[in-house]
Order: sequence, then structure tokens, then C-alpha cells
Amino acid sequence: MALNALGRHLALVGFMGAGKTMLAPLVAERLGRRAIDVDGELGVDIPALFAQGEEAFRAVEEPRTCELLAIDEPTVLALGGGSIKSQAVRDALGRSAFTVLLEVDVDTAWERVRASDRPLAQDEATFRSLNDERRPLYRGIADAVAFDLDGVLLAAAGIQHERGALARLGELVPGDGPVALVGDATVLGIHGAAAERALGDRLQSLHQLPAGEQAKQLAVVERLWSELRLDRGGTIVALGGGAATDAAGFAAATYLRGVPWVTVPTTLVGQVDAGIGGKTALDIPQGKNLVGAFHWPARVVIDEELLETLPERERRQGQAELVKTELLAGRELDVRGAAAYKAGLCVGDPHDRARRQWLNLGHTFAHALEAAAGFELAHGEAVALGLLAALRLSGRDTTAVEAALDPQPVQVDRDRAWEALLRDKKRTGDQINLVLLGDDGPVIEARSQAEVRAALDTLIA
Ligand SMILES: NC(=O)c1ccc[n+]([C@@H]2O[C@H](COP(=O)([O-])OP(=O)(O)OC[C@H]3O[C@@H](n4cnc5c(N)ncnc54)[C@H](O)[C@@H]3O)[C@@H](O)[C@H]2O)c1
Ligand SMILES: [Zn+2]
Repeated sequence: MALNALGRHLALVGFMGAGKTMLAPLVAERLGRRAIDVDGELGVDIPALFAQGEEAFRAVEEPRTCELLAIDEPTVLALGGGSIKSQAVRDALGRSAFTVLLEVDVDTAWERVRASDRPLAQDEATFRSLNDERRPLYRGIADAVAFDLDGVLLAAAGIQHERGALARLGELVPGDGPVALVGDATVLGIHGAAAERALGDRLQSLHQLPAGEQAKQLAVVERLWSELRLDRGGTIVALGGGAATDAAGFAAATYLRGVPWVTVPTTLVGQVDAGIGGKTALDIPQGKNLVGAFHWPARVVIDEELLETLPERERRQGQAELVKTELLAGRELDVRGAAAYKAGLCVGDPHDRARRQWLNLGHTFAHALEAAAGFELAHGEAVALGLLAALRLSGRDTTAVEAALDPQPVQVDRDRAWEALLRDKKRTGDQINLVLLGDDGPVIEARSQAEVRAALDTLIA
């Protein structure tokens, strides 16, 4: 079974009327991929061909579906409802796709298709019995089940969003091998017992990381390497905020040249940002996050109940990333929607070469202010300020961000902040590339140094 859609086609399967054809282009847009509606690619008059018998239709559908699944470039495919009756199609899915069952209740499906010319939707009783017959087949081949667009995007990244999921952790960690639970010391004190209970017999060892940013040190990871007893069949489960998951993820990326890992983010930052997308990192004296690796988690478990114990000041850190994501998406988002948005960008661009960079909205300014403040400034506050600058340079109104985050200018040395910004950014001549908001969504645009410096200066008291 595939765990995510990385480097694979994302195939939508499901019954007639589930919305596969409608959703495929929306999923594709969010992943930056091409959408293919297999029915539309058959090049035949489907009702006419069906009139010659279902077999005549399947004889055209099967080879064409397999051909499309053999395309190298990962796409998003909407498959015909009955195509998965073919063993050849099921084999092709297993080889090259992450298969998502788009679920729909049969009443809704019937309402959607009853007036259509679909050959197998001409009579309600037949339609319903066909649904009963197909259901186990869909369940049997699907790597994941989803009900809507965000559900597909979350599944594509291997994300399980579910209240109370911590109690099911034992089932949610893929495979059946041993687990090393690695957690933030504070979080283990609160949620560790529940996690241990949920892992049951699979729990092989438990490892405490210093709470917060102190976890992201080579000495901490070195100790962890020496404690781990996993072989390649084992999994590291990382429980905590972004600091714990960054450090545990780096250990997972490097131990035995890489073992699978699962993130269980316990902060708002973690659930909408750090726990998703497979970037892991350590800090070194020369700077934060300067050492790291890409290592996609086998699963991300987002349990919003875990946020109930999060201190308010930590929640505010996450609020800034949530507002950032809302600006990128152009609409209000909850935790699930924000996680799905990041998931889409990261699955489409796992190595941060293009669209994933949009997530840096406001961050060029934020990093400069943090550096100038000697890292005494909280990241969330710096991001809130950075968003103001990005909005101003985009010619956008800032009142919504001001109302949501109340950013206050900081007292730092202006020249020091500017030097940090220049050091941080690749420049082309006088121009600096920034993520900004265009009319049709995020864009990466070059602005002159004078403009960027003026925007930075407005953030400093
Ligand atoms: N890898 C990525 O893509 C990515 C993205 C964003 C941020 N990050 C990294 O994430 C880190 C920041 O993460 P963070 O904001 O989650 O902070 P954090 O991990 O430092 O945790 C903040 C504090 O909250 C406590 N805590 C965590 N969960 C709790 C809970 N449920 N109840 C009570 N206390 C809890 C921790 O013990 C800690 O003291 C930074 O190091 C940053 O570089 C990584
Ligand atoms: Zn950030």
C-alpha cells in the first residue's frame, strides 16, 4: 500500500456521482499537477459503446486507463467508476498511484446522476445494488478514503486529522514493527502516558528531548542515536511541537541512513506547519535550521485535542502561521484547512524548488528581525510583522492582519536587520526576490532594495 502521493499519480476512484471528475482538476491545481479525466480521454461516445454491451466499453477503457497510469509525470486521475473491476487496472494502480476512494452516500450519488445519460444510472434499484456490489472492491484497493477536497489533499500527504487520534496511535503508525517514541519532555509529562498506552506492545523504547528549541542540538540527536535500538523495520514516533519533530525527524532521517517516522504535532505551529512536509532541522551556533534533511513522515497524526493543554503564548505563535496560510489561500481556514493547504504545496513540490516557497510569505522580514533581535523575538511575532510588510509591498490592505495578530513594531538596530535580510536572500543585482500576493494568488517577485528596506523600516520602532 502506498502511504502518500509523493512521486506517484493520485488516482481518484469511487462510485458514480462521488464527484471524481469535478474534484480532480481542483486537486491537481493545489498540487501543481495535470488533471486527467479518464472517461474524457477515451475518445468514444460512452453511451453508444455501452449500448453494445458493458464488455465492449471495458475493452476500450482498460488499456487506456493503464496507458494513462503509465505516464511518468505524476498527475491527478479521475478513474471511471467501474474501471477498477479490471485486474490490470488494479495492478497499474498498485504500481504507480496513490489511490483515494472518494466516498459518497448512495442517496447523494443518485440525486447527482439520475438525470444524466450514464448507462449504469438509468434505474434507481440497479444503481443501488451496483453500489453495494462495488463498495468492497473500492475499499479493497484504496490507500485512503476521503469525502472532500481537503480530505484528498490531507490523504495525499499521509495526514490523519482526527480528534482523539492519539488513542489510536498504535493503529495509525504504518506497519507492525517496533516503535521508538521520542518526545518533548513537557509534552511527554502531559500526553506521554496516553501515547504509551496507545502504542501498547509496539513500544520498544522511550526518549525524552529537552523541551522546546533546546531539542534541536547535535548533542541531543547524538544521544538519541546512541539510545535507539530500532532496525529498519522500526518507526520513530515524534511527539511534541516543531522543535521536537524537527529534531526527532532529523534523527529518523540519519539513523541507519533513514528509518520511517511519524509526527504527532502537539502545537498549533506543528499542526498547521512544522509537522507537515518532511523538513527536519537542527540549529548550529552559526544559525537556526542550518543543518537538516528532507525526510517525509510515513504518517502525520493531527489530533486537535492535544492543543487543549497548549499555553496561550504558544498558541499565538501558531496563529501567525495560520493567518499566513489564510493570506496565501485567500480565505479563512481552520486547522484542517490550513494543514491541507500546506499538504498540497508540499506534495506538489517536496524539495522546495517552486510553489512550496510561497510558505515563506513574510518570512524574509521575520528572519531579519529575529536575527537583529538576537533571537529574543518570538517567531510568531516576527512573522506577524513580516506579513504586514509583504501585504504593503503587495499593495494590500493590512487591517485584517492587524486585527488578528496585533503586531507591534520592534526595537532592533535598523542596519543590523537590513544586513541580516541581505545575507538571508539570494539577490540578482539590485533586486530582491520576495513572496508577495498577486491578483491570482501568491507570486515570487523581484523588488528593489530601496523598496524592501523601506518596508523593513516600517516594522522597526
Ligand atoms: N520543519 C518545518 O517545516 C518547520 C516549520 C515551522 C517551524 N519549524 C520549527 O518549529 C519550531 C517551533 O515549534 P513550536 O512553535 O511548535 O514550538 P516548540 O516545539 O518549541 O514548543 C513550544 C513549547 O510548547 C510546549 N508544548 C508543546 N506542545 C504542548 C502541549 N500540547 N501542551 C503543553 N505544552 C506544549 C513545549 O514543551 C515547548 O516548551 C522551531 O524550531 C521552528 O524552526 C519547523
Ligand atoms: Zn514560520
